[in-house]
Amino acid sequence: MAILFTTSWSKDTGRWIPALKENLPDFEIVTYTRDGEPVDWDAIDYAIVWQPPPGILKQCKNLKAIFNMGAGVDGILANADLPENIPIVRLVDPCLTEGMVEYVVHWVLHFHRGFHVYRDYQAQNKWRPHWYPRPSDRRVGILGLGELGGACAKQLVQMGFDVAGWSRSQKNITGVDSFYGHDQFEPFLNRSQILVCLLPLTKETEGIIDKKALAALPEKSFLINAARGKHVVGDDLVAALDAGNPLAAALDVFDEEPLPADSPIWQHPKIIVTPHVASLTSPQTASAEIAKDIYLISEGKPPRHIVDMSRGY
Ligand code: NAP
Ligand code: GLV
Repeated sequence: MAILFTTSWSKDTGRWIPALKENLPDFEIVTYTRDGEPVDWDAIDYAIVWQPPPGILKQCKNLKAIFNMGAGVDGILANADLPENIPIVRLVDPCLTEGMVEYVVHWVLHFHRGFHVYRDYQAQNKWRPHWYPRPSDRRVGILGLGELGGACAKQLVQMGFDVAGWSRSQKNITGVDSFYGHDQFEPFLNRSQILVCLLPLTKETEGIIDKKALAALPEKSFLINAARGKHVVGDDLVAALDAGNPLAAALDVFDEEPLPADSPIWQHPKIIVTPHVASLTSPQTASAEIAKDIYLISEGKPPRHIVDMSRGY
């Protein structure tokens, strides 16, 4: 029994292989890099991938499932020659969720308490304390109330924030106002003083944070994008920031990654850049989650978190 492991995160191979061997001791782990070393494709039962080289998955004639090494599947679904009728399983992992909750809570608190302003004051040697509202008077809106958005919403509710979320289907999360569907998008934006994007990237959500959406935000708003760069129309965001609303944005993800060294985004005074690190996949916990699904499949049961190809997430 063999598992194909291929990732564009080549630096991580040294941490993944021992973790996979520990969790799946009965499997041979076949690593494939872009150098294209020979592989017995027919022997491969499962593939664990991030941005796999085009064409290789289709060569595995006995594949039972493909495991994506992250939550977002936009990268793998863009692969033009995926094998048909093989389930693609996305990563749902407590460690990935924890990391995202930390990231979102960090930036919500940063903007809520006005720490972005003290950054500017410090550059001017200015000592100027200012007041801040209670969390219950701060309305946070989360685009996408799935595994990650839902966990962030729950944590922010626990901290006393006034939280709403927008999703495709209606949600019932204690303390969270559920907005859903196209018609409730604008009312949701109208109340979101801190807007957090945790949507998957699909053809419906690409460019969703555009000029019109930004104009629907209340005055003195903030944006946190921890999903994918293509959710935001970059020029519209820069124009809105330059015009004064949103007041600031924390961006973890970009249309082009790495963000090119000559991008004006780096130096924009109202944008905080992090290099796609909102939440990193841990080889240890992710291997354990993948192993649970492989054992489910070997018992004739379906794996959890299969990607719905018609919805694209
Ligand atoms: P998920 O569990 O699939 O949740 C997606 C949420 O978005 C669901 O609530 C879904 O609504 C909603 N949604 C999808 N399409 C929609 C639409 N057209 N209109 C309204 N709502 C829509 O995904 P997740 O695990 O939370 O992950 C979210 C994204 O985070 C990933 O796709 C990935 O791109 C990103 N991510 C980024 C990092 C990072 O480090 N920056 C790390 C991990 C993940 P329903 O619940 O009604 O289906
Ligand atoms: C990271 O961006 C992920 O999708 O897990």
